[in-house]
Amino acid sequence: MYRLSFFLALIVHLGLSAQNPHGETFKIDCKECHNNDGWSLILSEISWDHAQTGFALEGQHKMTDCMDCHKTLEFSDADPNCVSCHSDVHQMTVGNDCVRCHDENSWLVNDIPQLHEQNGFPLEGSHAVISCSDCHRSSNNLAWERLGSECIDCHREEYLNTQTPNHIASGFGTDCVQCHEPISQDWGGENFHYFFPLIGGHNGVDCIDCHLSTNYADVSSDCSSCHLDDFNSATNPDHRASGFTTDCTLCHSLSPGWAPAGYRQHDDNHFPIYSGRHEGVWNSCTECHTNSSNYNLFSCIDCHEHSNEAEMRNEHDDVGGYRFESNACYNCHPRGTE
Ligand code: HEC
Ligand code: HEC
Ligand code: HEC
Ligand code: HEC
Ligand code: HEC
Ligand code: HEC
Ligand code: HEC
Ligand code: HEC
Ligand code: HEC
Ligand code: HEC
Ligand code: HEC
Ligand code: HEC
Ligand code: HEC
Repeated sequence: MYRLSFFLALIVHLGLSAQNPHGETFKIDCKECHNNDGWSLILSEISWDHAQTGFALEGQHKMTDCMDCHKTLEFSDADPNCVSCHSDVHQMTVGNDCVRCHDENSWLVNDIPQLHEQNGFPLEGSHAVISCSDCHRSSNNLAWERLGSECIDCHREEYLNTQTPNHIASGFGTDCVQCHEPISQDWGGENFHYFFPLIGGHNGVDCIDCHLSTNYADVSSDCSSCHLDDFNSATNPDHRASGFTTDCTLCHSLSPGWAPAGYRQHDDNHFPIYSGRHEGVWNSCTECHTNSSNYNLFSCIDCHEHSNEAEMRNEHDDVGGYRFESNACYNCHPRGTE
């Protein structure tokens, strides 16, 4: 035994190339891996760092035996591409770039939702609650053949079977998101025409009353583009005489009959009525704007008289220039405060 190890040590020392099974171009000092006791070697005793090869051993690879990767003692034969050692269980459906989804720690993939986002198909709405195989129908459930991420790619049958309304008879195209919400739970209700919800006064209105031609894009969402006649003929209040703007949304929601109207910017633009002392003390605009055919006019005293005209006069005993007249009230109390 002594003689054998002495002999091996000699070979290692001399570095006889005839005894080197690692190939002719191999340059690393034998002692970096072998000790004097023989050619077998113990992973934990190797001082040589594999990262020098440009292929660092990470994750599970740190625990892997040299010869599980190196099929021959000519180390340079090993190919660093994952697929050279790991078989592509996905059958070429996602490409050879395994590190796009995997690393050396495990084959589990946690960011499946993110993967779908990157593919331009976020799993939202009803698509978030169904199982992988509802969409990925290949027989091997690790093979992800391209499905296409357009609605029609998966919902053609539903489209062809529509009855209410029959899409083909109605001339509705196959670009579903033109009318249907991409992340919707179902095909009707609020998920339909989501970009301009048909609710309130627009609920039940026929397509043709708004879309005068079959070119659906040929319409504006600006209220006044359809409702200018209503604006011009409004008498209670008289919108034109009062100088109202044609930006209806300043005062109107979609509530049927155009009432109630609200005007949140009144506080900043004119006089605080949704904040301060007058918040909640009025029910209708006409309590101040008593003449509905002209909102340039207003009254303070119709209200404050009832809170007692005589008292009001008392209140202003020491106020020079006091008058019981609305414009005067407003001039001295432009914000409705003392
Ligand atoms: C980077 C590490 C490393 C270096 C450096 C290295 N070897 Fe090896 N060598 C190994 C590994 C790994 C084995 C395989 C061990 C096993 O099978 O357990 C091995 C095996 C051997 C064997 C046994 C071959 C067989 O058929 O079992 C010989 C002989 C050998 N090396 C000689 C050398 C000589 C000579 C040098 C210096 C020129 C050298 N090695 C440098 C890693 C190294
Ligand atoms: C997970 C697989 C894997 C394991 C485990 C592994 N290697 Fe490697 N090794 C490789 C790959 C892949 C290359 C080629 C890197 C390249 O070409 O960029 C390589 C390259 C090398 C090289 C350089 C070869 C050359 O001349 O370019 C040496 C030496 C080497 N390995 C020795 C070892 C030894 C010794 C061990 C055990 C301690 C080991 N390897 C464990 C995969 C592995
Ligand atoms: C040169 C061969 C080789 C290369 C290249 C290689 N591996 Fe490995 N890998 C192995 C061996 C051998 C094992 C240990 C045996 C096994 O579990 O398959 C392993 C283990 C793994 C494991 C642990 C498997 C488990 O079941 O726990 C993962 C994950 C892994 N490798 C991912 C990768 C990734 C990602 C790449 C590309 C960056 C890669 N491997 C490149 C040979 C290689
Ligand atoms: C687009 C992402 C993606 C790419 C690219 C990818 N995989 Fe996967 N891989 C997955 C997903 C997702 C799973 C299932 C993991 C899970 O259930 O957590 C998986 C699982 C695996 C598994 C485990 C299979 C099992 O039975 O559990 C292996 C092995 C694997 N992949 C190898 C590879 C190899 C090799 C490559 C490169 C050729 C690769 N993968 C490329 C996404 C990918
Ligand atoms: C509602 C349908 C749907 C569901 C459910 C679904 N996917 Fe997908 N998946 C897609 C679409 C669409 C793509 C985009 C690529 C394409 O066109 O096929 C895709 C792509 C992928 C890719 C490839 C990504 C790439 O970058 O190459 C993987 C992997 C994948 N899905 C895995 C899964 C897994 C695992 C589940 C279950 C957790 C799942 N999918 C659930 C529709 C779905
Ligand atoms: C990759 C295939 C795929 C794509 C692409 C896709 N879906 Fe789906 N979708 C499904 C599957 C599978 C279901 C589950 C119900 C079923 O089996 O039909 C579903 C369910 C739905 C539902 C629930 C109502 C129903 O039919 O059960 C709606 C609504 C829906 N999708 C709308 C869309 C819209 C809008 C798009 C385009 C933005 C789209 N989908 C794209 C596969 C897909
Ligand atoms: C031009 C508008 C428009 C387009 C484009 C459109 N739809 Fe519709 N879809 C409608 C309307 C309107 C309804 C009825 C909504 C309601 O009842 O609230 C509807 C209802 C549906 C329904 C339920 C009604 C039934 O009879 O089953 C399905 C399913 C449906 N659409 C599928 C699709 C699919 C799939 C696409 C794309 C391939 C698509 N639609 C494209 C307007 C459209
Ligand atoms: C109350 C009026 C109104 C009704 C009723 C109405 N729409 Fe619309 N629709 C609009 C407006 C306004 C737009 C433009 C929205 C935008 O540009 O933001 C629009 C846009 C559309 C678009 C998108 C056109 C594009 O590509 O830009 C389609 C498709 C459409 N409507 C179909 C329908 C169908 C089908 C019906 C009947 C089921 C219907 N609409 C009923 C007012 C209406
Ligand atoms: C593309 C045309 C169109 C646009 C844009 C439009 N509407 Fe309409 N609207 C209609 C039609 C058509 C009706 C039903 C006939 C009618 O009452 O004038 C209607 C009805 C209404 C009603 C119910 C009227 C009643 O008498 O009960 C209200 C309120 C209303 N719209 C408010 C609005 C507001 C606010 C906007 C802007 C956000 C708007 N509309 C934008 C076409 C449109
Ligand atoms: C400065 C606020 C304001 C603006 C802007 C405004 N309205 Fe009004 N509108 C009102 C008020 C207040 C009423 C009365 C509602 C009530 O009784 O609550 C009203 C009532 C109406 C009525 C019913 C009046 C009647 O005589 O029957 C119609 C129709 C109407 N508005 C249409 C419009 C249209 C169309 C626009 C935009 C082009 C518009 N309004 C812009 C404040 C406004
Ligand atoms: C508590 C009293 C009060 C109430 C309630 C009130 N206003 Fe006024 N409003 C005023 C005062 C004060 C002015 C400022 C008049 C001025 O600057 O000449 C004004 C001015 C306006 C103007 C600008 C008129 C112009 O001269 O250009 C409009 C439009 C208007 N109000 C609409 C409304 C609407 C719509 C409502 C109901 C939603 C409403 N107001 C409720 C007190 C009130
Ligand atoms: C709808 C009835 C009503 C109308 C119209 C009205 N007010 Fe008032 N005002 C009130 C009420 C109620 C209070 C609170 C009285 C209290 O707290 O004792 C009040 C309080 C005030 C205060 C006292 C604030 C404070 O800080 O103590 C002033 C100043 C005032 N109003 C000015 C005006 C002016 C100016 C106008 C006309 C532009 C006006 N009010 C129109 C009902 C009205
Ligand atoms: C020339 C300016 C002037 C005019 C005009 C005027 N006020 Fe005043 N008002 C004041 C001043 C200053 C005070 C504070 C008096 C004090 O603290 O003694 C006051 C106080 C008040 C108060 C608060 C009383 C309290 O409870 O503390 C109210 C309410 C009020 N005014 C309402 C009105 C109304 C309504 C009008 C129109 C009929 C009006 N004012 C006209 C200057 C005026």
